[in-house]
Amino acid sequence: MTIPNAKKNMDDNFCYRTDFKYTHDNPYHDKLAGFETFVLRDEQAESNIGKWNERIFQNDKPLEIEIGTGYGEFMIEYCQKNPDINFIGCDHRFKRSFSLAKKLDKMEHKNFRYLRARGERLEFMFQENEVQSIFYFFPDPWPKNRHNKKRLFQTPFLNACHKVLKPGGTLFVKTDHDGYFDWMLNHLKDEKRFEVLLQSRDLRNEYPEHFLSQFTTKFEKIFLSQATLIKSIVLRKI
Ligand SMILES: C[S@@+](CC[C@H](N)C(=O)[O-])C[C@H]1O[C@@H](n2cnc3c(N)ncnc32)[C@H](O)[C@@H]1O
Repeated sequence: MTIPNAKKNMDDNFCYRTDFKYTHDNPYHDKLAGFETFVLRDEQAESNIGKWNERIFQNDKPLEIEIGTGYGEFMIEYCQKNPDINFIGCDHRFKRSFSLAKKLDKMEHKNFRYLRARGERLEFMFQENEVQSIFYFFPDPWPKNRHNKKRLFQTPFLNACHKVLKPGGTLFVKTDHDGYFDWMLNHLKDEKRFEVLLQSRDLRNEYPEHFLSQFTTKFEKIFLSQATLIKSIVLRKI
């Protein structure tokens, strides 16, 4: 079903509003229903707010979230290496979600769920103090000035991250894009709610031992092959 004003409704931070509704007409939405044991789509992604561990994972392991999972290289490797966490991947692209769901389906140890959902909905998917870590790697940079406002990393998103993270919880960011990195630093200029644990314009050379230098996402491989320096920020909720 296509809703006539769907595009218009995507403007003006509509995604952050309580009256937001997902509207689309994409065949992969239905295909994703075939993975209902671990995929939650659209509004379903918001149905377990505050209850992910109690209702879904049925344990009290740390809840870790990735926004913009893409093809899932990080999610798959991290879930395999860390059986003692509860992981939730999230991406809004349909075909990419379907291709990742097929890979996740083959994983034996299902310490994860996958949300076909928008990162802007973070505070509607997770409750205050529910999340231990948020991973946000190689986000779409929206390089044109007139598109900058579409960047996820800005005040409403930082507010949501701060809300859902536990005190001491961490937001890990990597980007290839100088303009987006400067934009992030600018948004952090007067930010008092997070402690900056790491800030680097050359993560791999400055912090080769850091956890963030120990894995390479699909997009990161491309940027490294072009000799692009990897920029990174790690923030801890005070
Ligand atoms: C450049 S790709 C990077 C993918 C992956 N993190 C990597 O490093 O290989 C950016 C991803 O973020 C997703 N994305 C962009 N905006 C998003 C949003 N608002 N909510 C959820 N996912 C989003 C895109 O669909 C895409 O898969």
